Amino acid sequence: MPEADIVQLHESAEHNPARLIAKLENVVFAPGARKLVDGLSFTLRNNGITTLMGPNGAGKSLAMRLLARLLLPTTGHVHDCGIAARDIALVFQKPVMLRRSVTGNLTHALKLHGVSRAERPARLGELLQMADLEHLANSPARLLSGGEQQRLALVRALAAEPKLLLLDEPTASLDPQATQAIETLILQASNHGTKIVLVTHDIGQAKRLACDVVFLHQGFAHEHAPAETFFTEPQSLEAMAYLKGELLI
Ligand SMILES: Nc1ncnc2c1ncn2[C@@H]1O[C@H](COP(=O)(O)OP(=O)(O)OP(=O)(O)O)[C@@H](O)[C@H]1O
Ligand SMILES: [Mg+2]
Repeated sequence: MPEADIVQLHESAEHNPARLIAKLENVVFAPGARKLVDGLSFTLRNNGITTLMGPNGAGKSLAMRLLARLLLPTTGHVHDCGIAARDIALVFQKPVMLRRSVTGNLTHALKLHGVSRAERPARLGELLQMADLEHLANSPARLLSGGEQQRLALVRALAAEPKLLLLDEPTASLDPQATQAIETLILQASNHGTKIVLVTHDIGQAKRLACDVVFLHQGFAHEHAPAETFFTEPQSLEAMAYLKGELLI
């Protein structure tokens, strides 16, 4: 084996010990005349929490739908990296609850995931406890507060034991206590080995949770960096401006 190849193999094992879980390659999404996603490329590894950041309209939610395979690229590739679509869960920016109780929503998710009738009560109890929703188990899910619905949406997604969990602004418009509850759930899931991709506009939250950051602007990834360097030394002008709170157009 040529020496250069050995060095490369060694480096990739040392710096990238986790395996690929998702890869977007030159993805264009253009349902009409405008390219809403325009040459988007990034690679996600199976470790830590990745945050997707960028201004309104940057294409973050579209990127999440592409990763979840709910949208197909117009051109380019979303590689499956050996992960089946059913192993990916997406919690939408505005979660949609079934017109059932909290328990009904969770039971439905467990059933879909193939959890046997006998095993369901124990799993249900665990999920209610994780979300701190035991006292609301029989309440109609649609009547829960915003924070309670987000907690429910998150554990409902976890009911399917996804390998890749995509969370689109799960704490937007929540108070600090509700935000902390969600962040705790996210960290727990991450510690249990679920790969998490989190869209957030909350820079404090990204600093608390992110291992790496993908920065999007106008449907394009301008930067993908470890969190520690992204926040202190952003490389792209777009990310610098965003972090300074300047308007990006
Ligand atoms: N189905 C669609 N048809 C046409 N335009 C769309 C569609 N979905 C999204 N867009 C447009 O694509 C762009 C990117 O939308 P996207 O929802 O991904 O932004 P975002 O980065 O998630 O923004 P925000 O921070 O406001 O949630 C926006 O200009 C939006 O208006
Ligand atoms: Mg969005």
